[in-house]
Formats: sequence, structure tokens, C-alpha cells
Amino acid sequence: MTAHDPTLPPRPNAAPIGYAYDEHDRAFVRERVAEFRGQVERRLAGALTEEEFRPFRLMNGLYLQLHAYMLRVAIPYGTLTSRQMRRLAEIADRWDKGYGHFTTRQNLQYNWPKLVDVPDILEALADVDMHAIQTSGNCIRNVTADHFAGVAADEIEDPRATAEFLRQWSSAHAEFSFLPRKFKIAVTGAEHDRAAVKVHDIGLRIVTNDAGEIGYEVIVGGGLGRTPFIGKVLREFLPRADLLAFLEAVLRVYNRFGRRDNKYKARIKILVHETGIDEIRAQVEAEFAAMDRAPFAYDGEEFARVAGFFGTPPYEDLPERSEALEKAKAESAAFAAFAAVNVAPHRQAGYAIVTVSLKPIGGIPGDATSAQMRALADAADTYGFGELRVSHEQNIILPHVKKDDLLALWRDLDAAGLATANAGLVSDIISCPGLDYCALATARSIPIAQAISKRFSDLERQRQIGPLGIKISGCINACGHHHVGAIGILGLEKKGVESYQITLGGDPTLDAAIGELIGPGVSAEEVPDVIENLVELYLAERQEAERFIDTCRRIGHKRFKESARREGEDGSGI
Ligand code: HEM
Ligand code: SF4
Repeated sequence: MTAHDPTLPPRPNAAPIGYAYDEHDRAFVRERVAEFRGQVERRLAGALTEEEFRPFRLMNGLYLQLHAYMLRVAIPYGTLTSRQMRRLAEIADRWDKGYGHFTTRQNLQYNWPKLVDVPDILEALADVDMHAIQTSGNCIRNVTADHFAGVAADEIEDPRATAEFLRQWSSAHAEFSFLPRKFKIAVTGAEHDRAAVKVHDIGLRIVTNDAGEIGYEVIVGGGLGRTPFIGKVLREFLPRADLLAFLEAVLRVYNRFGRRDNKYKARIKILVHETGIDEIRAQVEAEFAAMDRAPFAYDGEEFARVAGFFGTPPYEDLPERSEALEKAKAESAAFAAFAAVNVAPHRQAGYAIVTVSLKPIGGIPGDATSAQMRALADAADTYGFGELRVSHEQNIILPHVKKDDLLALWRDLDAAGLATANAGLVSDIISCPGLDYCALATARSIPIAQAISKRFSDLERQRQIGPLGIKISGCINACGHHHVGAIGILGLEKKGVESYQITLGGDPTLDAAIGELIGPGVSAEEVPDVIENLVELYLAERQEAERFIDTCRRIGHKRFKESARREGEDGSGI
């Protein structure tokens, strides 16, 4: 990351640092740790009240949850080395309760750190070029990207060089440290959107124009929370050379006009909605035309250098088809299921992308024990050039596995309890922590996810049902992305009782859609029945290979609404 001296203008193209830090960055992160150590000491000595301490801790990703502090660690564009993963495991053992929680924004959260230990944790992170800066607060947050970046068969360009450029530009950016509200940017470089670009403050799609040049489609004003919006196209094609200057112009407009009077209306999505995309476009273009673009001058060599950090690993020259894989699939139905569900096509012949599910049946979505983190690090070293990714679906990706090695990898994963073959299926549920941890929660989320997962525990049946995204949030803040779940579940509290609203038809991809409510809230116990009814109707109605979401779109919500209600005719309130 680039550390900006606040007295100087941002230095977008300064010290070229891609994935590997240089000494300047290391020094910056260490200074921040030392500074925070002093603030923690003053808090512990009573020299700072919790109120006074709050802004300092939030600048370092430290929240106060229901029962304890929570530390949110940034994993830029979701890319991790095995060494970093091992360090995350060590921290979990030494200073937490032996596990961590991978989130929908490619971060890792520790739920039980003691305040006195946090500076040591940050020091341990700094040793492996990690930190928790800008994982909280009204600034530009961790930049996220497609978790299949650089390896996806449908990719135009690896989005991580762009994401790294944005990270350098936005890290410690003085002018954008106190925005009206937090700001989230996601980048994708593939045909299929795996980064949910339409539900971010800014979503960038790498595209090519008619002349074959690479640039960006800029989408703005998407977001979930209490008022969900699908982002709108601000620029259809932005040349790469203009990227940083143009985003600077967007952020300036937002910083100037975003509402600071009402925290619930402060996100850029509200500004875009209230002002209109055409007017916002005019303002951004005016700012862009008038601003001094010199500090953002594009340096193609620099971009190439950063992109070099995300270069191609030394792949072997292999045939596309692996005889070993075909044989293994024929011999083991369980492995064949894993290969069919959790393995995706790779751009390199003979290789595959493996999604490791952090959603075991009945487990807590996104949680990994320290032993599992180590097993993942080992697997990355043995089978995948030491590289791992975190997905926004709260799973871990091994991006470069030889097809010949898939069986051995599967066995290793199985031994660590990491071989559940449910990627994208009904038990691959995104869930926020809800009332089990979160101070803002109005209902539980984790036990609901567990109950649904247990109800559909038969993996064969899950496969028959096919891709189906269930997403659960424990309050209207929508951290569990429920608005964009094919089935969304929102936990609320009504007269002291937890009540769950079910939405249908949400989609986080380029066909983005906000789910529609299908009826009054149901009790926690009723949720699995309602899901079961919806799934049954889908199975009865689907045509050929139609996914749940397609059937939903074709036959309409009304039918599903009726199916959900059937069970409630006895007055159970569905
Ligand atoms: C201390 C725990 C947490 C707190 C206090 C918290 C708070 C919030 C709040 C207040 C919002 C609403 C933002 C808005 O509408 O302006 C939000 C949104 C969001 N949070 Fe959390 N959250 C927490 C944990 C998590 C976790 C564990 C995840 C991931 C699993 C997460 C991911 C998100 C995402 C993806 C949004 C999306 C909504 C959007 O920005 O459009 N948060 N969070
Ligand atoms: S959706 Fe609500 S309950 Fe869940 S983590 Fe976010 S703020 Fe907490």
C-alpha cells in the first residue's frame, strides 16, 4: 500500500507496490501499529474514555460487539499467501478462540480479541504485510475483486492490478478519510460477475471497446442495507488512463454532496437516487474536466509492473484432459460429486479452480478453525503455488490445482473437514453473525443457516436442486446480502419475538435484482419449512436445466408466495 503524507497531495503512482510491500509500506504499517499501541495503553490506563477511544479503534478495524471486541483484518482483493494464512491461524490460537470468520467483503474477523492484545495482533499481521486499516470508518474500504481473478476461463483481464492501483490510491487518502459514509469498490474482469459489482458504491467492469482497447464500465450507487439499490452505469467506457482521476472526481462529488445530516441517507446510493444518475454524471464529468489531473497521470509501465505481481505461476504443460481425474471420478461417487460441484474451469490446460466450502452441514457459515486454516495453507503449498483466495460467498478458493492432483487434494481437505461438496448449492448459505455476536442484530442468523443446512443435509438432493443462493441477515443492515439472495431471509424482532421475512428473486450478478417480499414474517422454527415449500414448487415447475432463479422469473413470485403460505393455513402466521 502507499502511505500518503497527509500534507502532500495523494500520490497515485508513487512507489510501485503490487502485492509485495516495500520498506516504505512496511514502515507505514508499523508506525500505525505503534501509534495504536499508545492509544490502547491510554485507554487501558483510563486516560481515554470509550467514547474518546472509539475513533482510534475504528481507524484500526476494531469494533465493539455484543460480547467482546471484534477485529476486522483486510484481505485485499481476497488474495492470500499460505504464509499469511498460517499467520491468521496463529493469531486465532494465541489471541482468540482458535477460529476466524471469513466475511462477504473478503475480510477476516476475530470475534474474541482482548483489547490489551490487539496491538500485538496487529504487529503479528504487519510481519506478514497485513493490517486492519480502513476496514472500518467512513473511508474507502478494502477493495474487493473476483475471487477467480487471473485464472477464470471467462476472463478478459485479471482485475487485481486495477484493484491494487485503487488500493494504493485510496489507502490513507487524506481527502477521503472522512466521507459522509463508508465506501466500497469492487472490480471484475470477467464475463460472469463474481464480485457483485452492481451492489457496490462503485463497481468496475473491465471491458474492451470497439477499437479493442481495455477500459472500464463504471457503475455507481449500488448497495444493500436498509435501502437497497442496484448500481447505475455512470460511464460505459472509461479509458484506463483516466481511471484514478475519474474515481477521484466521483469521490469528490460524493464527499461534497453526500448527505451528512442523516446517517441512513449518507451512502452514495442515496445521492444517486435523490439527484438522478444524469445529474450526477454531469457533476462528475464537470469535476473531471476541471480538476488538475497531473497527480493522477497514468503510467503504463507502472501498471504493467503492478500487473506483474499477479503474473502467471510456472504452470506445467499439460493436456486439457486428465486421465487420473477421470479414473478417480469413476471410482468414487463422493469425489465425482466434489469435482462436479466445487471445481471450476481454469484458463490453463490441465488445471482447475477449487472452491473449498466453509459451509459444512450444520456449521457456521464462513468460520474456519486454526487447524483448517493451516490445512488450507498446506494444501495451497502442496497443490497450488502457495496461493489462496477468499470469496464473497465466504468460501476459500485454491486457484491453481492440477487436475491430476484433485483426488489427493480432496482427501486432504476431507481429513480437515473441508470437503463438503456444496459450492453454490442450497447449504452454501451466506449469513451474517446476527444476534450471536452483533450489537445491531434484531434476530439470530447463524442458527437459521444451520437449521436450513441440516434440513437439506443430503448432498445428492442438493445437487438435484442445483444452484440456489440463500442469504441471511440478522437486521436491516443487510450484511448477509439477503436482498440479493435467490431466497433472502431477514431477521427482525416483533414484540420481543424473532420474525423472519422471506424475499425471493434477488440476484447479485450482472442481472442484478433485489428480492421481493413474499409475505408476512415467519417464526425461526418455520423458516426451514418455508424454504422446503419453495424448493418443492421449483422442482415441480422447473423446465430442463432451469435454475431456481430462472423458474422464479418465469412463473412469477405469486405462485411461490402461495406455496409458502400453504403451510400457514393453520394460522401459524405465514
Ligand atoms: C461488528 C459487526 C458488524 C457491524 C456493526 C456491521 C454494520 C453494518 C452496517 C451498519 C451496515 C449498513 C450500511 C449502510 O446501509 O450504510 C452494514 C452493511 C454491510 N455489512 Fe456489516 N456489520 C458487521 C458485520 C459484518 C459482517 C460479519 C459482514 C460479512 C459477513 C458484513 C458485511 C457487510 C456488507 C456486505 C454490507 C452491505 C451493505 C452495503 O454496504 O450496501 N458486516 N454493516
Ligand atoms: S446484518 Fe445486522 S445483525 Fe447482521 S452483522 Fe450486519 S449489522 Fe449485524
